[in-house]
Order: sequence, then structure tokens, then C-alpha cells
Amino acid sequence: MPAIAVIGGQWGDEGKGKIVEMVAAEAQWVARYSGGNNAGHTVLNPQGLFKLHLIPVGIFHPQVSCVIGNGTVVDPAALLEEIEELESHGVSTERLYLSDRAHLVMPYHILLDGLEEAARGGGAIGTTGRGIGPAYMDKVARTGLRVGDLLDQASFARRLGPILEAKNILLTRVYGRPPLSFTEVYETCCRYGERLAPRIRETDRLLQGALERGELVLLEGAQGAMLDIDFGTYPYVTSSSPSVGGVLTGSGIGPGQLKHIVGVFKAYTTRVGGGPMPTELLDETCDLIRERAQEYGTTTGRPRRCGWFDAVAARYAARINGFTSLALTRLDVLDVLPSVKVCVEYRAAGKPLTHFPASLATLEGCQPVYEELPGWETSTQGARRFQELPREAQAYVRRLETLLGCPASLVSVGAGREETIRLRPLLGP
Ligand code: GDP
Ligand code: IMO
Ligand code: MG
Repeated sequence: MPAIAVIGGQWGDEGKGKIVEMVAAEAQWVARYSGGNNAGHTVLNPQGLFKLHLIPVGIFHPQVSCVIGNGTVVDPAALLEEIEELESHGVSTERLYLSDRAHLVMPYHILLDGLEEAARGGGAIGTTGRGIGPAYMDKVARTGLRVGDLLDQASFARRLGPILEAKNILLTRVYGRPPLSFTEVYETCCRYGERLAPRIRETDRLLQGALERGELVLLEGAQGAMLDIDFGTYPYVTSSSPSVGGVLTGSGIGPGQLKHIVGVFKAYTTRVGGGPMPTELLDETCDLIRERAQEYGTTTGRPRRCGWFDAVAARYAARINGFTSLALTRLDVLDVLPSVKVCVEYRAAGKPLTHFPASLATLEGCQPVYEELPGWETSTQGARRFQELPREAQAYVRRLETLLGCPASLVSVGAGREETIRLRPLLGP
């Protein structure tokens, strides 16, 4: 069996959690490959409503084993809390494995995330404050500590010593903060390490073995293509690669093993945090969408910025990821609108721009050009087959397929597992 990647096509929160959890009913493995607990994946299933940050949403299916892959950054305290929370709701986490190569989010990363954001002032990125950027910085600077390091306490102490010394210089001399105590950080990490040790594995080998046995592996994206460190709206991005390249480097599977790459898109656009968003609305339509859809961050509770579907950005995301199909979510949120708009082109300095620009200044100066389609003003929530959608809603989905150059495989009309229309199989040829 192949691997299927499910990747956010916008600025995160596209509904990846709902889609992966639904598809996982047919899988044996679900793996996270990037990001950390900056992610917030909502799942509504017969067991309840859950918001997962680090643990793959496959955990709800008894036949699924879950992997937090090498490309992620892991705050052990947050992970242990999430494990406890799930267990307290009767969800077994026995089959959850953690890569020895994943990097640790350390207490100083969280402090520095906040201090660096404050120092940016008006230019703040609007990070989730979970220490993600500083942890990835240390990974690349080769001063990171990895999950596997927790397994050998003596060598962990030797590595932590000089690293913490350098961080304390930064905390005290640059930011005027008190230093962190070596003993406290070390002992806390050792305690976490002891609790996590039974789950620590060479997870690339676990996934390779699964694929060799013909099992289905789902790669659960976090964040979205427009927050990608390379392809997103830099510097207003996250510090990892949510895109397809990150799937491979963050899990250890080969490109030939990826059978399908599903791009998840909301039927409109949202963004949380700073940075350009060409189709952002600042009017009553934005308020209506935000309230109707409860567009507030799953991780931080911040109100999400809302706007029309941006097909220029979405087409770009579809190309850089090689999406083989689209999963369109939250179509039902648009049910009450008399008409819906789609941005089909940007205009920059009076000239049309059909490609998503790298330059932030160009992007900030872009005017969206909209196509207006008739709304359907009928509930879509009960639809389970494409033909059951109102004609105008079908036309909207078809138009997005054309604009993105990619067929839709799933259309979601509610948060629940069953509130989904399947247009084509993800498995099979
Ligand atoms: P993720 O980070 O991509 O997993 O998405 P989030 O969980 O942060 O945000 C998506 C929100 O949309 C969650 O509250 C989901 O329960 C909800 N959701 C997902 N699909 C649908 C849908 O088709 N309709 C509605 N109304 N809500 C949905
Ligand atoms: P899921 O997986 C939406 C955003 C933050 C900020 C930027 C950098 O739920 O889709 P970071 O803490 O990563 O350094 O913040 O990225 N961001 C997300 N926005 N959904 C997410 O995850 C996000 N993860 C990070 O708001 O703008
Ligand atoms: Mg989210």
C-alpha cells in the first residue's frame, strides 16, 4: 500500500484534522512530519470534540499506529499533557511513537519566542508562542537537542551544559532576563525522558516497514503551504516545511512511495497572525464568516482573519505541492451568502499578475480581481453525494477545480466524520 499526504493549501486551519481523521478509518499508520504544538487539529467524532496539537489524529482509530516524525519539534511537557488528556477521555495512546531524531522544544525556546516577538514590535510575526521558531533555529544551527538525547542522561547533561550557558547569555545580556537553572532544566528533561522513553523509536524504519508490508500510511500535514519557510509569505511564516518536501525529509519515506498528495482548502480563506493576505475582508462579510464558522485559533484562541477564496495563492500551492486532488472543507459556511467571490488574478502596479509573487512588497501592493458566483442560500450540511448539493454549490466546486487545475476528491459540509462527500477514491489507481 502507498503513502498518502494530506497537506494544508492555505495559511493553516484548513480542516486537515477532520480530513485525516476521517480517511484514517482505512489506514494503519498516521504520521506528523513537521511543526510542533503550534498546530491545532480539531476532530469531532463519536468519542467527542478534541483539539490535538502534537499527536496525530489517527489516534482515535484502534487499528492505527501513530508517529511523531523526525521533522517535528516536540515540547515534552505539552506532549505528556496531551497524552494524559486523551487517556482521561478513554482514548488509548499505546500505539504512539516518537522519533529519536525529532528536536526538543526546550524551556528557553519558549521564552525566546516571546522575547523575540516583543522585540519585533509592530513587525511581529504573530507566532503561537510555543517556541517553534527558536527550536528550528537551533536544529539548523546544530545546537539543538533531540528526543533521542533524552535516553542517555549523562551525555544529555554534557550537551545541555554549554548550550544552556549560551542561552543564558542571550537571556540575561540581550533581554535582561534571569538565567535558567541548569539543574532545574536538566532534571525536568530527565523526568520527561523517562516517561517518554518507551515510545521513542527510529520512526523512519517503522514507516518503511509498514509500507513494505503493504500497510497504508497517512502523512498528516500541519500549518499550510502559505506558511512554508520557503514558499510562504516570508518572513510571516512558520519555521518548517509543511509542503510536500517536508513530508519526505520529515518522515523518512521516499518520493516514489507517495501515491496521493491531497491539498486541503477551506472554501474561503483564513489566516491567523501577521503578514499579507490579499483577499482579507474587513467588513460585515468577514464578521459573518468568523461568527458562523467560529473562526478563532484552535491553539491560541485568536480571531482568524477571514476573506474570499484566493485562487492565485491556491493554484501556486497546488503546483509547488503537486496536489493530486483537493479536499474542500467548510463549504457549508458559505450557505447563507447571496453570492460568493473568488480571487482569480492579482493586479500589481496596474498590471495583471497571475503568479503568486515572492516579494512581500509586491504582494502587499496587490489588488485582488474577483469573479462573483451566485450563492445557493440553502443548507448543504445534509448532502452526502455531490449531486445532492445545490446547483450553485456544485458550480462553485467545479470552478475551483478548474482554477486550481486539480480535481476534488472530498467536499466537507460539516465538522463531523460523516459530513463529507466523496467524489473520487483516494485509494486505488
Ligand atoms: P486544521 O488545523 O487544519 O486541522 O483545522 P482546525 O481544526 O484548526 O480548524 C478547522 C475547523 O473547522 C475546526 O473547528 C473543524 O471542526 C471545523 N471543520 C472542518 N471541516 C468542516 C466543515 O466542512 N464544516 C464546518 N462547519 N466545520 C468544519
Ligand atoms: P495548523 O496545523 C494556522 C502561524 C502563526 C504565525 C506563524 C508563525 O493548526 O493549521 P509559529 O508559532 O509557527 O512560529 O507561528 O504561523 N501558524 C499557524 N496558523 N494554523 C496553524 O497550524 C499554525 N501554525 C502556525 O499564527 O502566523
Ligand atoms: Mg488548526
